[in-house]
Amino acid sequence: MEMGLTNKTALVTGSTKGIGKAIAIELAKEGVDVLINGRDYEEVERIVNEIKTDFPTTSPQNARCDIVDIQQREDLFEKYPHIDILVNNMGIYEIMQYEDVDDEVWEKYFRTNVLAANGLSKFYLPKMLNNDFGRIIFIASEEAIMPSGQMPQYCMTKSMLLSLSKSLSKLTIGKEVTVNTIMPGPTLSENVHQIIEGLYADKDMTFSEKEKEFMTANLPQSEIQRFIRPTEIGRLTTFVSSPYASAFKGAPIRMDGGLVPTIF
Ligand SMILES: NC(=O)c1ccc[n+]([C@@H]2O[C@H](COP(=O)([O-])OP(=O)(O)OC[C@H]3O[C@@H](n4cnc5c(N)ncnc54)[C@H](OP(=O)(O)O)[C@@H]3O)[C@@H](O)[C@H]2O)c1
Repeated sequence: MEMGLTNKTALVTGSTKGIGKAIAIELAKEGVDVLINGRDYEEVERIVNEIKTDFPTTSPQNARCDIVDIQQREDLFEKYPHIDILVNNMGIYEIMQYEDVDDEVWEKYFRTNVLAANGLSKFYLPKMLNNDFGRIIFIASEEAIMPSGQMPQYCMTKSMLLSLSKSLSKLTIGKEVTVNTIMPGPTLSENVHQIIEGLYADKDMTFSEKEKEFMTANLPQSEIQRFIRPTEIGRLTTFVSSPYASAFKGAPIRMDGGLVPTIF
């Protein structure tokens, strides 16, 4: 299916690896000029070159920036004042006990997972509305609606994104601009891959056997009994970015492998 995205420009935050990189690749496959973002210039440049080689008709660009830093965000806006698609993917997470989450940690998670995405949305949304085309997509998590209790500081920020997304969507009435949130379940990013390999380092098993054993022991509610592949999130994000998805407005969109047991 041709997605109608050729020559659009997309900023994907945190796109040097994991889900963000997969989203950038899937968008580039559809002819989108992707702005690759991360904090390490050389790493960003490497991904830009990789995408340029694989999708030579597109013009990927280096958008190196620590998006949590307000001044660096301003510099980014100056360099790239117009985009059609903003994917607020970058987010931090780690398992923490509630007792260990002090005010500093709460604030760090709020600044990193919510305020950075909000700062970018606040700048680009009015331009999208003026242009009568635009897509803002927040990457949350199934933990936004089903906190596991293992990372309260993270879950709260992901729930906030759902609310922010709906509030921003209210500003798009009658416009060909949409704001939505995708909630991936456990996804096989490079980090997750390493963690699984590490857990079974002393076992003579293939990765797929390790993955199966991990799912049975830790995520028995998953209906796919495997990690979601970043490419799957990339393809969904590409569809939501496309003109075919203009009726998705302020929607929480689940791709959790059936982990969330409820209908809604
Ligand atoms: N993996 C999962 O199972 C899973 C499940 C549900 C939801 N999610 C969500 O999906 C998103 C991506 O997760 P992931 O696992 O793919 O992440 P990841 O592999 O840790 O990748 C994070 C990316 O963000 C960049 N980054 C980190 N801090 C940044 C900053 N301040 N400014 C700009 N870039 C920054 C990193 O590059 P540098 O470090 O070089 O800057 C890297 O490119 C997150 O929002 C996460 O909460 C993940």
